[in-house]
Amino acid sequence: MSVAKKEYKRVTTKSLVDMKKNGENIAMLTAYDYSMAKIVDGAGIDVILVGDSASNVMAGHETTLPITLDQMIYHATSVVRAINRALVVVDLPFGSYQSDPKEALRSAIRIMKESGGHAVKLEGGKEIKESLKRILHAGIPVMGHLGLTPQSIYKFGTYTVRAKEEAEAEKLKSDALLLERLGCFAIVLEKVPAKLAKEVAESISIPVIGIGAGNGVDGQVLVVHDMLGMTHEFNPRFLRRYADLHTEMTKAFEGYRDDVKSKSFPSDDEQY
Ligand code: KIV
Repeated sequence: MSVAKKEYKRVTTKSLVDMKKNGENIAMLTAYDYSMAKIVDGAGIDVILVGDSASNVMAGHETTLPITLDQMIYHATSVVRAINRALVVVDLPFGSYQSDPKEALRSAIRIMKESGGHAVKLEGGKEIKESLKRILHAGIPVMGHLGLTPQSIYKFGTYTVRAKEEAEAEKLKSDALLLERLGCFAIVLEKVPAKLAKEVAESISIPVIGIGAGNGVDGQVLVVHDMLGMTHEFNPRFLRRYADLHTEMTKAFEGYRDDVKSKSFPSDDEQY
């Protein structure tokens, strides 16, 4: 059955829940700077995530742990300046919400006030319940993140698929119900078996946006540098590349280098 798509002039947290109700999948990508966010927004992507993956792809860290709240606010502020339509969700970085609920609320308020972002994302379920409650009670929209939660990489020890075992799958299902009950507007589900992800998406009314979670969920998210083929050394099975910018950019840089060295740039037409 084909579904008539509603036009959203501005995407809100409510639009996302409506999209799920109407069977329209949600397209989400990361962005961390003004120029990229402008292109992503102009292409009609529904949600822009200012992810703490900036720690990896922008700063070159091995994990997402080192990025700070100030750095996330800097990235988010640049993204928000570029946006006309997309909903901007900003990751609360590691260490800014786990220790106590009041600090979690302070961190979320700083993001909303200083960056102008529209919502925050936190990793985890039951263990961060009190922080989620505080933030939600302050009227700040929250996106959850379950499954492979990269801020816990040293606990997991590996980036492989999560919740293959019954106990972890059961916890994930009850965490998803908890996040819905607390009032989160959506959940990112990262690197879990497709069957489990579908089951979770069907069990709750808020959208589940997958990354490495199969096609039975309500939307997809990718890291923009990965889908553009800029991070060509990163090859997980779930990643579909829509461009090969690593090759294209290398060609452009080499061409420029050669033109400068051969003194063919600038030409007569390219000077005053
Ligand atoms: O930080 C990030 O980019 C994310 C996505 C992988 C969902 O959390």
